[in-house]
Amino acid sequence: MAAAGSAVGLGNIWKFPYVAGENGGGIFLIIYLVCVLLFGMPLVTTELVIGKRSRKSAYGAFRALRNNDRWQWLSWLCVVTAVLIMGFYFVVTGWCINYLAEAVMNAFKGFDAAQLTAHFQTVTTNTWRVILVSVIPVILTEVVLWFDVNKGIERLSKILMPLLLVMMVIMVVRVLLLDGSKVGLEFFFKTDFSQLSPKVVLVAMGQCFFSLSIGMGALITYGAYMPENQDVPMTSLQVVVLDTIVAVMAGMMIFPAVFAFGFNPAEGPELVFVVLPAIFEQMSFAWLSGVLFFTLLCIAALTSTISLMEVVVAFLVDATSHRPHPLDRRKSVLVTSAMAIALLLVCVLVPNTFDIFAEVTSCYLMPIGALAMSILVGWFLGNSFTTWYGKFFVFTIRWLVPIAIVLIFLNSLRLL
Ligand code: PFF
Repeated sequence: MAAAGSAVGLGNIWKFPYVAGENGGGIFLIIYLVCVLLFGMPLVTTELVIGKRSRKSAYGAFRALRNNDRWQWLSWLCVVTAVLIMGFYFVVTGWCINYLAEAVMNAFKGFDAAQLTAHFQTVTTNTWRVILVSVIPVILTEVVLWFDVNKGIERLSKILMPLLLVMMVIMVVRVLLLDGSKVGLEFFFKTDFSQLSPKVVLVAMGQCFFSLSIGMGALITYGAYMPENQDVPMTSLQVVVLDTIVAVMAGMMIFPAVFAFGFNPAEGPELVFVVLPAIFEQMSFAWLSGVLFFTLLCIAALTSTISLMEVVVAFLVDATSHRPHPLDRRKSVLVTSAMAIALLLVCVLVPNTFDIFAEVTSCYLMPIGALAMSILVGWFLGNSFTTWYGKFFVFTIRWLVPIAIVLIFLNSLRLL
């Protein structure tokens, strides 16, 4: 449940629709699904295996498995990636909190498409307000990690996750009843191969890594806490399937509405924030629907930020344990929160950093991390897998995954 909570988040509901909208809709969906099949299952499994076998955080795991320091750079890559993701992820979670508060106050009642777009600009260009609302999720996450109430959150998300899914189904149905919604479905499901480009493939791969939280140690950290008798492949399958269903449903909810209301599918990061309130206006119990949905979205974001910060917290505890001034768990939580706040300030205050962090982490750092992990497990631990599916898994991460990642990189550099 915790791994599913890490995977399902803003990546599915906020990022997936907007990158799909910017990259041709249907063609993006197909490439994305191929990436999930090719990379998703094997790499979620790889990370959980690294964590479960080493029982260490991203800092100690590689050393524990190989008995040498040659893979230590990979630990650093993991934390750096986690810290950069924190920067923009907390900002977007802040936007969600802002929209939740406004939904409670019924602030966008009667707004048309143009007003909703203008409203998003007003909200996100108000620097102080954005900083304020972005610090709130940092503090909430800190409280969860500080009091070690992960278990409670996990149990809570067992109830809330299905509720999120049910709400999304209702919203999909409502949106499909709108005039002009068919064009949106066509945009999302019709594959136009003329739109295929190296960039579409690179972005789809990056989105797959981001959405599943792979390539930066989040699942290593959770794998380390996994009960001995829990089945890794089954867990991986559940995480991958659930995450993909939520992403596809988000697309089915957003795109018909985009066309029905006259928005632009390539609107960018504001896409869901302008489209969702427009959908609620059309629903019965508009106020309640808006409040409920934004609440669920904030909680989905929070279960992701917990895993994101946990990577850094566990890293700091392990990395300093043999030093003269070791950081205990609570001190590490404080240091990590300070880093999160510093990075979110950078994202808010320095132009373009938001986009650069979002792109560099998912399109480059996570695939590089995953490439290294698949080589580590595939080539150095491969012989320890004896079942038929274990052997198939090893074949995949030895050959298919690394070769595919390298080819996609070369292709995006136009070297093929
Ligand atoms: N998978 C999360 C999402 O789709 O929202 C994003 C994420 C969370 C990435 C935690 C990495 C991570 F460690």
